[in-house]
Formats: sequence, structure tokens, C-alpha cells
Amino acid sequence: MPRPTVALRDATTPLTPIEAEAVLALARDAATADGSQPLSEQFRLSVRARDVDGVVHVLALSPDGALVGYAQCRTGDGPASAELVVAPSARREGVGTALLAALPDGMRLWSHATGSAASGASSFAAARGLVPVRSLHVMGRSLRSGPAWPSPSLDPRYAVRSFEPGRDEDAWLALNAAAFAHHPEQGSLRRADLEQRMAEPWWDPAGLILVVEADDPDVLAASHWTKVDPPGGEVGEVYVVAVSPDRQGQGLGRAVTVLGLDHLRGLGLDRVVLYVDEDNVAAVRTYATLGFEDLEVHRQFARPAADVAGAEPTDPTEPTDH
Ligand SMILES: CC(C)(COP(=O)(O)OP(=O)(O)OC[C@H]1O[C@@H](n2cnc3c(N)ncnc32)[C@H](O)[C@@H]1OP(=O)(O)O)[C@@H](O)C(=O)NCCC(=O)NCCS
Repeated sequence: MPRPTVALRDATTPLTPIEAEAVLALARDAATADGSQPLSEQFRLSVRARDVDGVVHVLALSPDGALVGYAQCRTGDGPASAELVVAPSARREGVGTALLAALPDGMRLWSHATGSAASGASSFAAARGLVPVRSLHVMGRSLRSGPAWPSPSLDPRYAVRSFEPGRDEDAWLALNAAAFAHHPEQGSLRRADLEQRMAEPWWDPAGLILVVEADDPDVLAASHWTKVDPPGGEVGEVYVVAVSPDRQGQGLGRAVTVLGLDHLRGLGLDRVVLYVDEDNVAAVRTYATLGFEDLEVHRQFARPAADVAGAEPTDPTEPTDH
């Protein structure tokens, strides 16, 4: 195939609904072929919502106008992060390289691939001069068997209740921002991001468990947002566990995690999974002692720092018609 045309979609030229559907169809084809989702949840949500605030969409089109690849780059508090996917039928033809050339130099590129697709992604990154800079582990355990987890033990100054829409949004966002102040994606979750998730089919306020001050139930000490996606499926997720920084180190993280596991088991689910940064040693240890084991590793790649500082020029042979 001749080199693809690359087109950028941003605030001035947003994705059309037809383009957004084509991107999601391409991502589904890749997921079927690779056995793993190429785009993570926030990136897929931004395609569907055709977000432009801090988001750039990059389309790779074949000469007949068919979509053969897609990349998204988003800016938040940390470095820009990107995800890219090439149609299974158009691989090893330079599409990934063309998409990469359209992304900013300092961005970090995620690979969510598993198995042989993961080695393909690593080889692609290495061939393009990117090195691994961050690893996200997927851990899981059975809810029906395996090591028992302890009963939740909470100081009597705390009470437990579920999230109430219309009451807890601001307090939960503040707790999340404080707990994840050093986490580039989770810590920057805004009201609109929360509302996007609350509009998803899997949203269930009963699954967002809050540990609150018994005397003042509007004060949140910790929370555990559990998720069942698809709803009615067999797998639950420890989606977000947050403990207020001034209350960390008191066993609240473990207690609220256990409350969520009890909730998911009560739904009759088979398994539970979670995502955790490799360098979040305290969290990895908490989950390991609750019987979680490693299932997959997702990696983030970036140009070596020296190259970024030196503003390496993009490949002059790449398409520039964007
Ligand atoms: C990884 C991916 C984006 C590569 O896209 P692509 O269009 O096939 O990549 P290119 O044709 O531009 O490949 C450039 C070079 O990367 C290397 N490469 C790419 N895929 C490879 C694979 N499966 N195995 C080994 N090397 C590979 C090769 O050196 C290749 O050059 P060559 O074909 O001349 O040997 C594509 O396989 C994909 O969409 N995978 C699923 C999503 C994903 O993993 N995204 C994260 C990427 S870090």
C-alpha cells in the first residue's frame, strides 16, 4: 500500500460521527485479532464523545479514503499520552510509523497489547526509537475460591455508605484529586469525566463505596469504586481506590478494598481484576496480600530523555499533509 495520508482532528476540525464510528470499528477489529483492546477506556470514551478539549485525534487513510489507523494524543497535568492502533489488514506497511510521526515528540505511547501482540508493540516501539518508561500491571483473583480476604475492620469513627448522585460528586472529585495528586491520569479527573462515566451502562452508584466520618457523612475519608463491565458479566473490577492523604497509613485502604470485594462477591461474580502502576509499591503489596496475582503488564514508551531535549526532527519521509 502506498503511504497513508494522515489527518489531524482537533477543536477546529472535530471528528465527524462517521469518523468516530469508523475508529471504534477499527479498534474492535484489532481487539478481535489481537485478543486485547488497543485503546483504553478514556481514549474510547473520547472517540465516542468526539472530545476536543486537550485531545487530538489522528486518522491514517488509505488512498481510497478507508481508515487504516488511528492515534489519539491527550494532554493533562503530566506528559502528553498517546495510544495508536493499525487495522490488522494494514500492518507492517508503515501506517503505525506515519501515525507516530504526527504525534508530539515528548508524548508517551501506551501499549495495552498482550501475548504476541505485545511483542509486536514492543518491537514497533523499539524500531521507532522509543524505550519503556512505565508499567501498569493487571492483577486478578477469583471471588469464589483462593485465599480468603479478611473482614473489613474500621474504626468506629467511620461509617460506610454508597455514593449518592447529586450529593457526593464534588467531595469525591476532591478526594480523588488529593489521593492521586501524583498520578498523571487518575488525579486529573474532572467533573465532566466523572459525568461521562456516570452515563455509562455499567455505572452503579451502589458499587461506589464511601467510607465517611460517622459524625459528618458528607466528609469522605476513603472510597472504592467497583465496576462490572459489561453489566451482567462475570468479572468485577477494583476500579479506583482512594484514601484521603491525611488518613493514609491507618489501614483504610485495605478496609475499603475488602468492602468492595465483599460487594462484588455479593453480586455473584466469578472474578475480580484491577490495574495498578508497578511503582505504586504500597498498592501492589496490599493487593498481593489480598490474594491478587499478576495477569498482564501494560507498558508506556517514550523517546529517551536526551532525544526529547535535543528535539529530534521527525522523519522527513513521512506524510505532512495534515
Ligand atoms: C504495533 C502497531 C501499532 C504497529 O503498526 P504497523 O503499522 O504495523 O507498524 P509499521 O508498519 O509502521 O512498522 C514499523 C516497524 O516496526 C517494527 N514492527 C512493527 N510491528 C512489528 C511486529 N509485529 N513484529 C516485529 N516488528 C514489528 C518493524 O521494525 C517495522 O518495520 P518493518 O515492517 O520495515 O520491519 C500495530 O501492530 C497495532 O496496531 N497493534 C495493536 C495496538 C498496539 O499494540 N498499540 C501500541 C503500539 S506501542
